Amino acid sequence: MELTDKQEFLNGIKKVVISEEELQGKIAEYGKLLSQEYEGKPLLLVSILKGAFMFLSDLNKNMTIPCEMGFMACKSYFESTDSSGDVKIVYDLAQDISRYNVVIVEDIIDTGRTLSKVVEMLKQRDPLSLKIITLLDKPDRRVVDIEADYTLFTIPDFFVIGYGLDYGEYYRNLPYIAEYNA
Ligand code: IMP
Ligand code: MG
Repeated sequence: MELTDKQEFLNGIKKVVISEEELQGKIAEYGKLLSQEYEGKPLLLVSILKGAFMFLSDLNKNMTIPCEMGFMACKSYFESTDSSGDVKIVYDLAQDISRYNVVIVEDIIDTGRTLSKVVEMLKQRDPLSLKIITLLDKPDRRVVDIEADYTLFTIPDFFVIGYGLDYGEYYRNLPYIAEYNA
């Protein structure tokens, strides 16, 4: 996909689903909650690139305790209906996670396939604890039984863009979450 026309770009935005104010309000709330929960403990926030980059950034700004962050990038190989597909790590964490309480920071849980594989892989590295925080949850689409420990917003089954989430690599820059106009 190549998108260079401004009007075409704007036409892709159907309607705002979660405003910037709503996002920032909820993220502040959860930053406070995590700061209370992990006070006095070594904490590593792990983000799976690229969708969660804005969420990780704003969540970090709302943390009031010392914490570190780490990044991973994965590539998924799934057949359309097969949930037992493979996930390969194309960029790995630099940290030895056995020294940390790890919180995976996700943009959205859709089928749950990618996240469940990442959880499986990280558990083998023996973190002190492992939890998941997700900005968005689309439970209607789940094919693998996985739940986040913290979910900021639950949304119906439609394709969303903005605030890190893309369509064809565009729209990540929007400061709000919108429904994509296909
Ligand atoms: P799954 O849970 O393994 O199906 O994969 C979830 C990933 O698919 C997310 O981390 C997103 O990168 C992407 N994704 C799922 N739903 C949407 C959406 O509505 N908009 C943009 N990306 C999505
Ligand atoms: Mg993602």
